[in-house]
Amino acid sequence: MSGVETVLHLAQLEAKKDMNESESKNLAKLVTEPPKFKEPMKHHTTLRVGGPADVLVTVHNVDELQKVVQFAKEHDIQILVLGEGSNLIVRDGGIKGIVLRLSGELTKFKFDTLEVEVGGGAYLPHLLVKAAQRGLSGLECCTGVPGTVGGALISNAGSAEEFIGNRVSRVTVLTHEGELRVVERDELRFGYRQSNLKDLGLVIVSVVLNLTRDDPKAIMERIHRRWRYRWETQPVNLPCAGCIFKNPPNDRAGRLLDASGLKGVRIGDAQVSTVHANFIINLGNAKAKDVIDLAELMRRTVKEKFNISLEYEVQIVGEDE
Ligand code: EPU
Repeated sequence: MSGVETVLHLAQLEAKKDMNESESKNLAKLVTEPPKFKEPMKHHTTLRVGGPADVLVTVHNVDELQKVVQFAKEHDIQILVLGEGSNLIVRDGGIKGIVLRLSGELTKFKFDTLEVEVGGGAYLPHLLVKAAQRGLSGLECCTGVPGTVGGALISNAGSAEEFIGNRVSRVTVLTHEGELRVVERDELRFGYRQSNLKDLGLVIVSVVLNLTRDDPKAIMERIHRRWRYRWETQPVNLPCAGCIFKNPPNDRAGRLLDASGLKGVRIGDAQVSTVHANFIINLGNAKAKDVIDLAELMRRTVKEKFNISLEYEVQIVGEDE
């Protein structure tokens, strides 16, 4: 383990032991898409770092999902649910057990007047555009968040002031016991870049969002305005994981990191963005260790200069090399 505390906001079934060969074969029989063994996680994270997952399993419907979770429980194998890997740092030693990805029926949208029911694996930018085309507003705060709907809910994605959680009516989760459960709004808690969803379930199967009627053109204009702002102020065209730290109360992490003179500072191929100081970019061959060492340097520097302790916003998972 590195000196950094493990940040595990991702839904996870705890690891107890490694998978053997016969278990791997039996797992492959449960799903239609062939699992990928020893799959490099750097191919599944937007920062392009991370060692291999023991196995990456893609499930296409609830039936496959339940079978895989049941299997993992019976065999004491860890499960980690992956979204788009856009808010994720996977350590260089990779991930033990099963990394689970939702596809097929678990990515569908169903619109009904002002409501939309969406699969947890749906790609958030698609949802934004589909809603806007139907004249449904309320998700513009998530413009440019390149994640899944499930991932966005867990970390209550959005801007610094508005969040997707404000629009949630109810969520269907697969519990840690492997059962489907509908969680109503009054049981859900959303805060700044956090929620209680990982306590309520292992997998977000679907969510019902409550939207507001508006002119499609006006919604698209708001989306474009926010996109332009991101393009001007964030390194969106480079491998990165979004903001590394949460904004502390009454201040901005980016401002503090910038005022600490950190823009452009490098460890290996990991560099503090010269555009926005709360982003780390991968210049090509960064290791997760470079990224984490750089993030810790950033955190230490802000603590020394301003006596403010920054909290991680990205999720850090996996084993050291
Ligand atoms: N600033 C600097 N230097 C920098 C970066 C920012 O001085 O290098 C200053 C800006 O000039 C501005 C202030 O800090 O006055 C705030 O910057 P910005 O508008 O970029 O917002 P932010 O608080 O840094 C938040 C979210 C972003 C989201 C943007 C836009 C957090 C941690 N970040 O950034 O979310 O895209 O607002 O809505 O809440 C993410 O969650 O990964 C993320 C990128």
